[in-house]
Amino acid sequence: MADLGFDGKVAIITGAGGGLGRSHALELAKRGALIVVNDLGGSVDGEGGSHTAAQKVVDEIKAAGGEAVANYDSVATPEGGAAIVKTAVDTFGKVDIIVNNAGILRDTSFKNMTPDQVNPVLDVHLRGAFYVTQPAWQLMRDQGYGRIINTASAAGIFGNFGQTNYGAAKMGLVGLTRVLAVEGAKNNIKVNAIAPVAKTRMTEELFGDAMDKLTPELVTPIVTYLAHEDCPVTGEVYSVGGGRVARIFIGVTPGHFQADLTPEAVRDNFDKIRDETGYGVPENLNEEMMLAFKTMS
Ligand code: NAI
Repeated sequence: MADLGFDGKVAIITGAGGGLGRSHALELAKRGALIVVNDLGGSVDGEGGSHTAAQKVVDEIKAAGGEAVANYDSVATPEGGAAIVKTAVDTFGKVDIIVNNAGILRDTSFKNMTPDQVNPVLDVHLRGAFYVTQPAWQLMRDQGYGRIINTASAAGIFGNFGQTNYGAAKMGLVGLTRVLAVEGAKNNIKVNAIAPVAKTRMTEELFGDAMDKLTPELVTPIVTYLAHEDCPVTGEVYSVGGGRVARIFIGVTPGHFQADLTPEAVRDNFDKIRDETGYGVPENLNEEMMLAFKTMS
């Protein structure tokens, strides 16, 4: 089969001045996409800003014969999101692909967490994806084409100590992904999410040298496929890192039905309620209702 090409497709990649975003930008550019390299250029905790990071990646892309433009706006405001999309439209005339990747960390245990650690994290990861995607949404609807990849995290999907702010934002992105998949279906807009693991400046203290093989370049292949015209799925979440890719899904057990359900009946049937045998993986709310009716009938 032919390689996955992106000739003439326009991709916005947020937080692409380093780490995973840089890797996605270089790969899509190499395959012919025109790239908006967005990055505020701040620290891991979101302080400060600089034009250097985004510009360096643009220079790298151009040196390799690709096309890219830098954008330094923050994803964390509606104005910033609109300006990022405007950069794509003004420079390349459209938006085909968005990779919502920008992110910051402000970890601490829940008992110590302050609003200053909650709000900026929600703003960048969760609201940022709204602010960047929304101005492009109508354009994608009008052109009948779009590919959106949101960067979630196992920290939210499965849970991790010290990351209630980050985990909530990242699981929020799963909800955004699933609802946008439903809303985008009739206009050929496919929306998926990844839960990556890679050694970047965000994780280097956590991982140390032992994790050198977890390169950002080993996360990019699934992003590239999900961003491609041939992407066969929407509303899905993929775990990726170190060369392994797997699907994460949300399933529901058949459960227990009793027309006169009581708290005692819940207690007495708790093993059955939790039993994963015969579970279903609904694609949307309607399918979940259908599964519920199956147990009830
Ligand atoms: P990174 O720190 O190298 O990249 C994040 C980039 O986002 C930085 O270049 C930063 O300047 C930029 N950024 C931060 N706030 C911004 C804003 N308001 N507007 C525009 N750009 C902004 O870290 P990494 O690891 O490459 O992270 C990329 C994404 O992957 C993040 O969303 C992160 O939460 C997620 N992730 C990473 C994992 C890993 O193992 N590295 C694990 C799970 C999720």
